[in-house]
Amino acid sequence: MKELILFLHVVFATLWVGGMLFLVFVLAPFVRKLPNRDQAFQEVGRRFSLYGTMGALSVLFITGLFNIHYIVGFSSLFDLSNPYTKTLLHKLGAFLFVVVISLVHDLYFGPKSINSALHRNMARLLGFINLFLSLFIVYLAVKLRFGG
Ligand code: HEM
Repeated sequence: MKELILFLHVVFATLWVGGMLFLVFVLAPFVRKLPNRDQAFQEVGRRFSLYGTMGALSVLFITGLFNIHYIVGFSSLFDLSNPYTKTLLHKLGAFLFVVVISLVHDLYFGPKSINSALHRNMARLLGFINLFLSLFIVYLAVKLRFGG
């Protein structure tokens, strides 16, 4: 069971991080050249919000809790002298930031960016911050693999 849960966790991590990398390096430069770029960005944004923010982040949280249960147990979360626990708490903190930034991006700046350069630039900035934070989370996950 623990293998299946970690497998799902990694698949949804690739959907989330890989989706953002694809968006930044492949899709966005193409969409920016389209005559109806604003509508296209809205459509792409809505879909990635559904599968990424709502779908992937929820599954990552739930499978992440199961990972804790199967790999170290929740009681280890109280042992702050353990480097694994410290790294795990940093990972959870970074995850919380990613969730808040995603919601602000998807529900406020994204929809408003259709007619406003300010909102568009803010949406872009938050998207970049989220990408770097998510890569940092993957780095912390790798640290966990080596004991924290
Ligand atoms: C953007 C969100 C997240 C990403 C991209 C992510 C990514 C990953 C990846 C790639 C691994 C596999 C590392 C490995 O075993 O080599 C992993 C493992 C793990 N994740 Fe996450 N994760 C995220 C959120 C979470 C959350 C919210 C939790 C806790 C609620 C969590 C808890 C864990 C645990 C306990 C492991 C096992 C680490 C080990 O090998 O000991 N993750 N994560």
